[in-house]
Order: sequence, then structure tokens, then C-alpha cells
Amino acid sequence: MTLEMDAPQAERKLPFYMRGNYAPVQDEIESFDLKVEGRVPDGLDGVYLRNGPNPPAGKGVPGHWFMGDGMLHGLRLGGGKAHWYRNRWVRTRALEGARMRDEFGTTDRTVGVANTHVVPHGTSIYALVESSFPTRVSPDLETLGTTNFGGKLDSAFTAHPHICPETGEMHAFGYDWKAPLLVYFVIDKDGNYIQREEIAVTGPTMIHDFAITRHHAIFMDLPVVFDIERAMAGTMPYAFDDAYPARLGILERGRPASETRWISVKQNYVFHVSNAYEEPDGTIVLDVARYNELWRRDSGKNFDPAFLHRWTVKPGATVATESRIDHRAIEFPRIDERLTGLPYRYAYAPMNPDETAERELDFSQLARYDLKTGVRTHRDFGVQAMMSEFVHAPKHAEAAEDDGWLMGFVYDKARDTSDFWILDAATLETQARVLLPRRVPQGFHGSWCPGV
Ligand SMILES: [Fe+2]
Repeated sequence: MTLEMDAPQAERKLPFYMRGNYAPVQDEIESFDLKVEGRVPDGLDGVYLRNGPNPPAGKGVPGHWFMGDGMLHGLRLGGGKAHWYRNRWVRTRALEGARMRDEFGTTDRTVGVANTHVVPHGTSIYALVESSFPTRVSPDLETLGTTNFGGKLDSAFTAHPHICPETGEMHAFGYDWKAPLLVYFVIDKDGNYIQREEIAVTGPTMIHDFAITRHHAIFMDLPVVFDIERAMAGTMPYAFDDAYPARLGILERGRPASETRWISVKQNYVFHVSNAYEEPDGTIVLDVARYNELWRRDSGKNFDPAFLHRWTVKPGATVATESRIDHRAIEFPRIDERLTGLPYRYAYAPMNPDETAERELDFSQLARYDLKTGVRTHRDFGVQAMMSEFVHAPKHAEAAEDDGWLMGFVYDKARDTSDFWILDAATLETQARVLLPRRVPQGFHGSWCPGV
């Protein structure tokens, strides 16, 4: 008997997020004047940034996919060209080995892996992870340091803030397993922290995203609850709890937290909101990628499939009506964000090619939902493809919804490298395929940052 393993055997022993295209890359590179098939649209002038976990060698295997140190991948587009690609770790204190909580339980929110999203607002670009303060980064992927908005931010900061297209405000929240459990706050268009409300949730749940409408903020207090045993084991410290009441909290924007209305929904979990809006009669519509359950204690699954659902809350209702929009598994839905919080028609999401949805988060098709007609179309990248989220950019400032581009990375297993694709949002046809000098690991979220 030998304790040595051959390389494929050793790889199989690693968790899924350290294998295949989930595995991190260990170098930082840049490449200029990239080869393009087709043509980068002249209207795209800016930087596409995307974040994701990328644990460096030497720090050991993280306890969960969500816990690896963040790495940005960026692509500079302009003048019909792809000028450069580069990747950089977000140079956080966590990357240097600092710990967010000390032995006395004190939390230092300047420490965080900054691995989940990268969001421009005003003159700043923030790399975000939901445990910690935002980390400001430059358009060329350099790390500028954390911010607490002049000392006013005293909580964690979600990786999913939402920017109101009408006011320019960035609405956000932070959650924790210690009180205050949920803090909602607003950053105005100039970067000032202008409102702070403590929302009275039932218990310490994992709250990954939320929604805004023209007049409301909507919180998802769902039954994935803090679990001390998991915390001690060094993995994500949350587990599904059938006894925990699933509720939506609806608060009118600008009003105190005490006015939050609580709406019951069926047991479920949601990481990501597609969008929310108000009907003329005050009905609130919220579209989400909904899981029946997540991280049940006796389940060996990493993720159940998520399906696009619509919750509808009538004025005065205490229960949300739920309908499933599609039977195909999707995640990471994005929209034309000029319509964040407003009536919208189209959503775009990576879709599982397997009708039985047994491949978990293994996406190789991009779905385009017309929520008015109920028609889904899709673009198939083929059996060798593994894709991540695609982001929408309007073709020009006055362009109609759907008159835009969709962009994102697709990994090609056969070539062991990735391409950056730009598709027409309406037809899903290829506008440009940018050939990259490397594979880009499966990641989380990105943004198109125009004009930077
Ligand atoms: Fe997310």
C-alpha cells in the first residue's frame, strides 16, 4: 500500500472548486492588442471587470468555494478593439493573512476576501464580499484600499448593492450573525452614506442579495440560518432550517425600519434577484433565481438547481403569490440595469444544458427571457463550454431595453482556455469573440464600466 496518489487521483480528492475550470490560476499576467473574431462594437468604450475566488497556492484549500481570495479579470475595450486583458488579485489584508475575527470575537471589517462582485458607483469601483467593507480598485485592477464612507459604515456591505437609475443612489445592506443582524443603508450619488436602518429579521440568516423598486427596498429573510457547528468546521457557517419562517421585508424608501411590512413566502432560498418593480396599483413584483432548499445538513449537494420564479405581493397582502417562470435551471440573472427597480421585460442568465438539472452550476447556455411574452430563447456554447454570468451594456444612452450587448467569459474544455464573448442581446448572435491568453476560472459577478 502506498500513500502516494497519481495526479488525476489527487485531483479527484480536491473539492469541486479546486478542480477543472473552478481551480485557481496562480499568476498575474497581461496581454495587449488581443485577437478578435468579428469586431468589438465601436460603442463599447470602457473596462469589463469580473470578480471571483482564486485562492493562492500556499494558503491551503479554503473551506468553501465562497471563501477564496478574490481575483479580478479585466478587459479594456475601445475604438473597435480589445486593448488588453489582465488579472490581479485584490490586494486585501485577508490575502496577506489577516483574520477578520480575533480570538475575542471582535470583527475587523477592513479584512475580507473581496471575491464576489465588482461594482462602479460615482467615481469609485468597489470589489465586494458580503462580510466586509468595500475595497476600492482602479479601472486597471490595482487595489486602492477599503472604505467605510468617512467612518459612517459600521456593518458589513453586501456584494449586491443596487443603484437606482432615477436617483443615482446606491442601496445596500450588511448582515451578520451577531446584532445588528441586518442593516440597510443608502449611499447617495456622490458617495455619501445618507441613511441607516436596522431591519428586525427573525434570526441570523444568510442574505446574499436584495431588491429595490422605485419606492421600496425588499429584504429576503430566508431559512439558511447561522450554524455554529459549520462555523467551527471552517466552512460556510449556514444551513437550511425548516422551522425558520421565510419572509420578505418591504420598506418604503426613506422611511424608518419600524415601518417594514413582512410578507410570508414558501420555504426556499435565493441568492440572486433578477429585478423588482411596482405595478400601477402598488403590486410589487420580484423575480428571483429560487432554490427549493440549500445546504441541508444531511445533504451532500453543493447546490440544488435554481429556477426563475416570480413573487407578486398585492397591496395589503401578507403572503406572496409565487409562480415558476421556467423549468430550466439558471443562475446569475442580469438585466439592463437602467431598469433596476423599474418595469422591465428581459432577463439574461446562464442556463444548465441538462434538462434534468443534475449538473448543478455547470452552465453552457445563455438564456434570454422575454417576460412579457413568456418566450425563452438561448445561445448554446456547446458541450465543451463552461460559462459564467453575462453582463448587459446598452448600445448607446438612448437605446431601448434589449438593444444592447451581452458580454462574459466562456471556458472551452477542449482548448483549456477561455474566450470573451460579446453577443447582441436581442438575437444572441456573436458580435465579437476575443481570444484570451489563458483560461479564466469560473467566478461570480462582473460589471461593464463605461468611459473609465
Ligand atoms: Fe452573488
